[in-house]
Amino acid sequence: MNAPILVTGGTGTLGRLVVPRLRDAGREVRVLSRHRREGGQGVQFAPGDLATGEGIDAAVEGTEVIVHCAGTTRGDEGKARHLVPAASRAGVRHLMHISVVGADRVPLASGIDRAMFGYFGSKLAAEREVADSGLPWTTLRATQFHELTLTTARQMARLPVIPVPSGFRFQPVDAGEVAARLVELALGAPAGLVPDMGGPRVYAMNDLVRGYLRARGKHRPIVPVWLPGKAARAFRAGANLAPDRAVGHRTWEDFLAERVSTPSDSRP
Ligand SMILES: NC(=O)c1ccc[n+]([C@@H]2O[C@H](COP(=O)([O-])OP(=O)(O)OC[C@H]3O[C@@H](n4cnc5c(N)ncnc54)[C@H](OP(=O)(O)O)[C@@H]3O)[C@@H](O)[C@H]2O)c1
Repeated sequence: MNAPILVTGGTGTLGRLVVPRLRDAGREVRVLSRHRREGGQGVQFAPGDLATGEGIDAAVEGTEVIVHCAGTTRGDEGKARHLVPAASRAGVRHLMHISVVGADRVPLASGIDRAMFGYFGSKLAAEREVADSGLPWTTLRATQFHELTLTTARQMARLPVIPVPSGFRFQPVDAGEVAARLVELALGAPAGLVPDMGGPRVYAMNDLVRGYLRARGKHRPIVPVWLPGKAARAFRAGANLAPDRAVGHRTWEDFLAERVSTPSDSRP
């Protein structure tokens, strides 16, 4: 078990929380990144780009376990399409993949659906690349991380009037808790699609934004906006939620108390 574990996206919000947890478990780690970086203390960096496939064979070589956290708002199926054959050639024995709750429940029936919610389609397609890879795999779907919720709230709070999609709810989860679960799963036996991971509470989107505004001491009017399309309807029906899997502990309020201060916002 001396082979390094490859963490794709090991420089991102989730992946950089996965890396130290793997180190704490006594594992050597290799991080795939599009940017050259210095390694050290049991962590090496491998340059590569999953969008083009460049460097991926070398990054995967000699690894037995991959924790695939690389992702963007578009094109994750293409990234999986470059990772999977390289992992097969390297004889990887466990491909651990993170996806999103609702990947299979947000329909992309129209251009409007695809423009606003295409991310869910690309996550589902990436899931299929992994499941059909012939490799032993595990996929965990998580709800939105607090960090993403914070980024969204910050952007919205720049507007003089904040439009919030009517009926949208979210169940933000702590990325560190998701990272811990990913490490547990990655070091265990491949398990296929495992139960979803959601944060401890479901919130109306306007309450999440209000919580942020309160923490910043800001006042903004919030106006409801009705989003058209089947994907938005699925969101209003809770397709992005996992209320039966509210297994996360750290709440949005806990996160805000630590990360957001008034009057000047303390960015990470
Ligand atoms: N954020 C959420 O709320 C949420 C919820 C559920 C699931 N997820 C999933 O969790 C994963 C991680 O999300 P995150 O929020 O941690 O993302 P993030 O902070 O935006 O980080 C993205 C990571 O992906 C890597 N990456 C992007 N394009 C790449 C490419 N072409 N080749 C190689 N690496 C590439 C980046 O590495 P470099 O820039 O160093 O190359 C970076 O480390 C994603 O798959 C996402 O869909 C996220």
